[in-house]
Amino acid sequence: MAIHTQVIPCQSSSISFADADTPHISDHQTSDALQKAAKLLHDLQVVAFPTETVYGLGALALSETAASRIFSTKGRPADNPLIVHVSSEAMLTRLLPQGYEPSPLYKLLMKRFWPGPLTLLFPADSTIIPAIITANQPTVAIRMPIHPVARALIAVADAPIAAPSANSSGKPSPTRAEHVFRDLDSKIELILDGGACGVGLESTVVDGLQADGNLRVLRPGGITVEDLEQAIREEMGDSDDMPRVLVHRRDYADTIIEETPTTPGMKYRHYSPAVPVTLIYTASPPPDGLERSSVSSFVTTLLDQHASATDPLKVGLLMPSDSPLLRVLSQTTGLQWVSHPLGPVAEPSVTAQRLFDGLLTLEREGVDLILVEEVLEEREGLAVMNRVKKAAGESAWLKLDVADRSSLLDASRT
Ligand code: TXA
Ligand code: MG
Repeated sequence: MAIHTQVIPCQSSSISFADADTPHISDHQTSDALQKAAKLLHDLQVVAFPTETVYGLGALALSETAASRIFSTKGRPADNPLIVHVSSEAMLTRLLPQGYEPSPLYKLLMKRFWPGPLTLLFPADSTIIPAIITANQPTVAIRMPIHPVARALIAVADAPIAAPSANSSGKPSPTRAEHVFRDLDSKIELILDGGACGVGLESTVVDGLQADGNLRVLRPGGITVEDLEQAIREEMGDSDDMPRVLVHRRDYADTIIEETPTTPGMKYRHYSPAVPVTLIYTASPPPDGLERSSVSSFVTTLLDQHASATDPLKVGLLMPSDSPLLRVLSQTTGLQWVSHPLGPVAEPSVTAQRLFDGLLTLEREGVDLILVEEVLEEREGLAVMNRVKKAAGESAWLKLDVADRSSLLDASRT
């Protein structure tokens, strides 16, 4: 039976916290919306709500029935575990095995980055955390979000909330309430609208439970590797036995992880809009086997491949605002370009914030395909490239040729 999906605006600025568990909400509509959402959660329903990273699809984490609705609503494979969201350290302690004491590394990470977009793996006590949440893993992923609406919802419900991104499995994660509505309309009762998410990509997922004491980044995200390294250096000093930050695939390989879906996006298709995405390499040595081509021959090939598409071919561009490639392509005639600029090359946090919005907005605008230009895998760029590589079905390696450069020069003279 189709459900009427309500979208209620919430004012983040009307929410303040006397302490972690006691939100004060001055705006009536926001307060009523949070009460309504908390009631739905306790009725074992799912509710979409904003976090600082992406919108989440929440359900009571300690109810197997409620959590199972997350999987059915998203079409999520049962072997993909969920992140549990808490609003206070007291709530965290109630989820952990009795007597468990976090390591000094975890204590410093929580001190520096909670509340915020960092998810930590903890040992899971199966008498506390339902197996559906952990997908039978011995660990449970937990984070404390900083978005006022998310924190207030958990505090008002007075219960830990399991929440994956609020999209159908395999799609880009939603960063605005309207993305959620377009995807999950008639499938859920309530979407809390807190405006656009500030980070725009999911939280960083880290595992600091391994015997060597190092911190493994399973999914790069809102807290960068550089942020983690700096915090460890500042809090633990520059000693030799300081934990190292290891990035999966860059610094270590783990075949067990590759074959199980515990690492986000490893096993399943991810982040893909309904139209094909091509990743364009312009700078770094591209992956093996890619032939370099000029922009003009690339465009000719595109036109040939899509000869039967709408006339003219409508191509979405997700590139830095100051990208030379963007300028050259925009000047190429015979196609319709729809650009959703990703901010200056020098500001990867802006690129992160706009990436999923760009994929979803271009899809909605009816483009035939989307070209995404690579960014440097530094700071937030590491997470951006992690998502783009999974979203893209194809890649190409372009070099601006002499003719491209002269058209650039022409443009810069005018
Ligand atoms: O920013 C975020 O983390 C967002 C917002 C809503 O908080 N949530 C989110 O959830 O991205 P989701 O389900 O889309 O991604 C969570 C990922 C999963 O893909 C899963 O592989 C990983 O976290 N994960 C969860 N529990 C895990 C565990 N016990 N061990 C390893 N990875 C785990
Ligand atoms: Mg997701």
